[in-house]
Amino acid sequence: MAIETDFIVIGSGVAGLRASIELAKSGARVTVLTKDKAQESNTEYAQGGVAVVLSDDDNAELHEEDTLVAGAGLCDVEAVETLVADGTKYIKQLIEWGIEFDREGGKLAFTQEAAHSRRRILHAHGDSTGKEIVRALIARARQEKRIVLMPFANTESLIVADERCVGVRFLDPILRAPREIFGKAVILCTGGAGQLYQHTTNPSVATGDGMAMAYFAGAEMADMEFVQFHPTALSLENAPRFLLSEAMRGEGGILRNKYGERFMTRYDERLELAPRDIVSRSIVAEMRRTGTRSVFLDMTALSEEFLRERFPKIYETCKFYDLNIATDLLPVSPASHYCMGGIRTDLHGRSTIAGLYAAGEVTCTGVHGANRLASNSLLEGLVFGARAGEAAVADNYELRITNYESENPKSKIQNPKSQEISTAVKKRVKRVMWERVGILRDKDSLKRALKEFEQIARSNLSTSSRNFVTLAKLVATSALWREESRGGHFRNDFPERDEKFRVHSIQKKDTELTSSAKINFGQ
Ligand code: FAD
Ligand code: SIN
Repeated sequence: MAIETDFIVIGSGVAGLRASIELAKSGARVTVLTKDKAQESNTEYAQGGVAVVLSDDDNAELHEEDTLVAGAGLCDVEAVETLVADGTKYIKQLIEWGIEFDREGGKLAFTQEAAHSRRRILHAHGDSTGKEIVRALIARARQEKRIVLMPFANTESLIVADERCVGVRFLDPILRAPREIFGKAVILCTGGAGQLYQHTTNPSVATGDGMAMAYFAGAEMADMEFVQFHPTALSLENAPRFLLSEAMRGEGGILRNKYGERFMTRYDERLELAPRDIVSRSIVAEMRRTGTRSVFLDMTALSEEFLRERFPKIYETCKFYDLNIATDLLPVSPASHYCMGGIRTDLHGRSTIAGLYAAGEVTCTGVHGANRLASNSLLEGLVFGARAGEAAVADNYELRITNYESENPKSKIQNPKSQEISTAVKKRVKRVMWERVGILRDKDSLKRALKEFEQIARSNLSTSSRNFVTLAKLVATSALWREESRGGHFRNDFPERDEKFRVHSIQKKDTELTSSAKINFGQ
């Protein structure tokens, strides 16, 4: 039997939780469907912190300027102004709600990250900022009796009737069968798609499901070619690519090659604090030059006492792998980290489909342009989660129940055999993405990747595999179209920035790729 509610939120990271709290304020019933346990999300693992204008020597113009420079000509100025102005307001509110950011002598402590002109990054429990944000938001959400959180409820597709999104189809974890839920509006907060790549800092839930669902429902997708690779993921055989926060370089960490040389001097005058895309490409160049699979992060100039206190989670995790961050060189290499592209939205989280809203990493709001400034994404989730919630309440669509004909009526919780096939498909896609649609791309590699994806897509796939390979195709298609290098997108065959491409790629189902000068379609 179908479920009825007022608002459906998908995902329980910073964007989903903040949107739910906003929606519940209106007195509406809010149902949050989330794929795993409530805490499992990219947000939970965020380390470095959240950028915000709150320190005495900072101001909004400086934060905006840093964001615009990082975005390499593709940010939407109004979106950036909104992020920065509302960011301060919503962080102050979070502090009122009881979040514990780290302090020094009673005052908020700010750290430094790449491409920020000021120390403006707030952090919590040293390197566990995301965990603290999730804790505080879940505690706040629990005070709202009308929020119902459904963990382990994997959403598969959106229900669209007469060009309006009226509900979603998900796998009911108790019934172990597909089920529909209808509401006045759906807010997609499903996060990014780091898992598209063989090497990633993202947890397993980050498979980009919301992007694929929105695409299949007919929403416009923007700037899918822009993927951020984090330069310093711990690089050990048979271990996940655990993130070694940029804040470690912000506190004085140095990158060295296998000969112990500080190689960033050869690549950029900003050295280890050059923008992420530059540091990642420099590491790749250095690994190729020296014939190695990693370089090293050197924290040995800092005391063990300081490092243990400042980066407790990283300290303990490295210790688990027999590495002491204060005395050992830490092997690192780049890994996929963040998607700048996603569902095209206006400044209030409205997608191009009525009744469908989106917030957080699943979107392209125009805030990040071609490259996200470090620590701006937790802020984006907070700000645009709240704004999307506000807009969904204001738009006040009517609840509408339809007879939903599933595109894939056989869909159900997969049996072990089809699960095995799904795993094999995803493994192949991840390898191709890493090798051919990765940090360095060119026409030939992208064409070969697309050919493979088309071949995979022709086989009989489960919904989740179909979504996965479709997303891979979207990234490769826009990367092939963009014949220039800008921000997170680097083409070996077009290494320069080209003014002609100072536009956004837009993809929509059954339509050729187009471009648009602006992301924000609201005005
Ligand atoms: P997420 O937090 O990823 O939440 C997505 C939610 O959707 C999850 O609950 C997930 O389970 C759910 N979901 C996904 N698919 C489905 C489905 N099909 N059905 C139902 N539910 C679904 N950013 C910063 O600003 N500062 C940092 O210090 C920082 N550090 C980071 C460190 C790491 C290791 C990583 C991976 C990212 C980091 N980032 C950081 C990026 C930042 O964490 C994310 O961009 C941000 O948290 C995204 O928030 P979100 O709410 O959009 O998505
Ligand atoms: C980090 O701590 O290095 C991640 C920060 C971010 O992705 O914004």
